[in-house]
Amino acid sequence: MRDQIKAYEEQAKAIEPNAEQRCTLREAIVNYTEQFLENIHDLEKIPAFQVHDTGIDLTKQPISDNPIELEKAIELIAKSVDREGLNPASGGHFGYIPGGGIYSSSLGDYWADITNRYAGVFFANSGAVRMENHLINWMKELVGYPESALGNLASGGSIANLTAIVAARDTADIRAHNISRHVIYLSKQAHHCINKAIHIAGLKECQVRHISLNDRFKMDMDALKETIAFDIKNGLKPWLLVGSAGTTDTGAIDPLNDMAQIAQKHEMWFHIDAAYGGFFMLTDYGKRQFHGIERSDSLVMDPHKGLFLPYGIGVVIVKNGEALRNSFTYKASYMQDISSLADECFSRINETF
Ligand SMILES: Cc1ncc(COP(=O)(O)O)c(C=O)c1O
Repeated sequence: MRDQIKAYEEQAKAIEPNAEQRCTLREAIVNYTEQFLENIHDLEKIPAFQVHDTGIDLTKQPISDNPIELEKAIELIAKSVDREGLNPASGGHFGYIPGGGIYSSSLGDYWADITNRYAGVFFANSGAVRMENHLINWMKELVGYPESALGNLASGGSIANLTAIVAARDTADIRAHNISRHVIYLSKQAHHCINKAIHIAGLKECQVRHISLNDRFKMDMDALKETIAFDIKNGLKPWLLVGSAGTTDTGAIDPLNDMAQIAQKHEMWFHIDAAYGGFFMLTDYGKRQFHGIERSDSLVMDPHKGLFLPYGIGVVIVKNGEALRNSFTYKASYMQDISSLADECFSRINETF
């Protein structure tokens, strides 16, 4: 058996790049990305938006056992991907939400991809899990959530919002027999991922009210109160109130403190989508604008928006940490040996999707 494994090891070496080959690959990528960064402020060379071949040339390259030249591969990706469409890290990009720009984060990605540590469970890599929790604890403090709150890093705002909505659903024990009694209130400017999350969480049969806006594109509190009163009169149960702390279209911040007051009065779950705006809490001006955010039950912030990290990172935090744990903790036979460490996982919730 040992000899067989050794033989396989020898065979496998043929497909592992050696130090010299790694150096050639690395230098080619570093040279290319350096050139990209040197030119990023030159809108003649790298416009904020452009259309060439809409990436079609890339798809003409067959996926086969035969490799293509490194230079050709780089040119293909440069042309069909990097010189195509939006360049969100460009200073000329004013549409939508800017993204990218923190160089050290890209090196962090490189490092993490090489060492490839598994951060899904405490036993597999306690340091990586603690690193995640450390970041979440910092964000909890930033928004004024208690220590008992729990959170999770997700791939972006959409999955983070979905996670919070599932926790809210399970806390209210919404099931087939009572779903249509429950009412969700959103502003007309809520990001479409909230509607998507409602769908994915199986909540389409809830009553969904799109509350009108005031002249500053914020949720109109009178309209909200009137709608809630109407619903209660008709035997419905106001359940979920979703506020936006920085809408995608205008950056409007809903009246969070007033919404918290209303949610408290009617015993509703108050969720805030601060995917775009959340990190403005790092400024004194932002803190004043977000007054009341700490009264929410859950919230979402996206480091790949407000902190300019590379794409693929959103954060969900739920004030009643147990609600998150109850919705997302699962056991499996192959994980029996790690359950004794479960308590040390404290805020690590097993992702299930
Ligand atoms: C306010 C808001 N919420 C949620 C999202 C969804 O985030 P993601 O694209 O990271 O899933 C966006 C994206 O632009 C957003 O602006």
